Amino acid sequence: MDSVDTPQWSPESWRDKPAAQQPVYDEPNKLELVLSELERLPPLVTSGEVLALKRSLAQAQDGKAFLLQGGDCAEQFDDCTSGHISNDLKVLLQMNLVLVHGLKQPVVRIGRIAGQYAKPRSTDLETRQGVSLPSYRGDFVNGPEFTAEARRPDPQRMLRGHAHSAMTMNFVRSLLDGGFADAHHPEYWDLQWMNCSPMQAEYRRLVQAIGDSMRFVEALSGDRAGGARPEFYTSHEALVLQYEQTQTRHVPRQEGWFNLSTHFPWIGMRTAHVDGAHVEYCRGVRNPIAVKVGPGTESDQLKRLIAILNPTNEPGRLTLIHRMGEGNIEYHLPPLIAAVRQEGARVLWCCDAMHGNTETLGNGVKTRRFENIRTELERAFDVHAACGSRLGGVHLEMTGENVTECLGGARNLREEDLARRYRTQVDPRLNCEQALELAMLIVRKHSRDAS
Ligand code: PEP
Ligand code: CO
Repeated sequence: MDSVDTPQWSPESWRDKPAAQQPVYDEPNKLELVLSELERLPPLVTSGEVLALKRSLAQAQDGKAFLLQGGDCAEQFDDCTSGHISNDLKVLLQMNLVLVHGLKQPVVRIGRIAGQYAKPRSTDLETRQGVSLPSYRGDFVNGPEFTAEARRPDPQRMLRGHAHSAMTMNFVRSLLDGGFADAHHPEYWDLQWMNCSPMQAEYRRLVQAIGDSMRFVEALSGDRAGGARPEFYTSHEALVLQYEQTQTRHVPRQEGWFNLSTHFPWIGMRTAHVDGAHVEYCRGVRNPIAVKVGPGTESDQLKRLIAILNPTNEPGRLTLIHRMGEGNIEYHLPPLIAAVRQEGARVLWCCDAMHGNTETLGNGVKTRRFENIRTELERAFDVHAACGSRLGGVHLEMTGENVTECLGGARNLREEDLARRYRTQVDPRLNCEQALELAMLIVRKHSRDAS
């Protein structure tokens, strides 16, 4: 059975629970106008796509597919350009190719895209030189500039966010319909600056090998391989609940409610409270749901989250994204795996190797070390294997842009390199080269473990 029969749930029942991390708007009339406009706008995704994703995630739970979820920490309105969107898509497709070939499994591709505009923050206020202003909570809520005007939450931004999500979605769909993801033409995905990358030769060898295999299969069967439109899904943190409520819809010939602003909403670590509004909201929609769990997540809390979010143990419904940090994962993950086993719960385990490995350098710059990200991922595979479980996916913050935000990687970026192209307003992302390198490392780890 689906989670549609949950008692006393409605798209607004979250309002009776404590809601962390919500913007405070100071003009209620303006807010109401925006919300009623958002309710009328057409959805960004369809219930059929949402249910198809749930089936694919169920496959991944059964060990028959691998999840690749990635994209910017936060999208920004200014980055809603053809270059930025197609570069982010290119790097995901390149990683996908590496993973499909190396793991010999289908990859479920999900972008942190077309709606990933709102951010939870550790503090409500940011102080610079004695001046305190509300923290930047993503373009969906306020602006990053450090002025009182920019930092004031503006409900109109939700409308802009919805429109930018729709434009992004439209462009992604057009690219995919036009054959952008066609593995016969991986040259579409070359990122210019990759031409002088140390990863280039290995990537090209792989593309060549895949091309040869496809031609071989086609010659045998007489058909063109991989003809169907490729699946690509969107995800964002379901954070600003007033917005998510407006996107919660009934669909003809389907039971229950769907959040049609995205295929795959997730609950962030700061809002995964058993009695909180975010869990209440998510329990009632039929989308597949992910929850972030960290070193502070207790086994009992996890058991209660599972009982609330997936009371019928529905396949594909629940993904647990652990984000422990490389130094914590070996200690903190096994009890959570044991808790899931004790409940007999079906979950997909996914490793976010980014959020437990963020550090601030002496000069105040936030970064992450490639080595730590890699170590957390490798340990994640080992811990799951040792506990008789399976790591079924990765969750990464990355971009197709040639940024310098994370240290290390094949080109060994150092602290002094970060200033060159440090663009993020929130968390540091892997650049294309580092992301591709990580995909190759996952494959190497997998082959080592299998042999
Ligand atoms: C994020 O995914 O950008 C994020 C804030 O993660 P977490 O909730 O795991 O801290
Ligand atoms: Co982040």
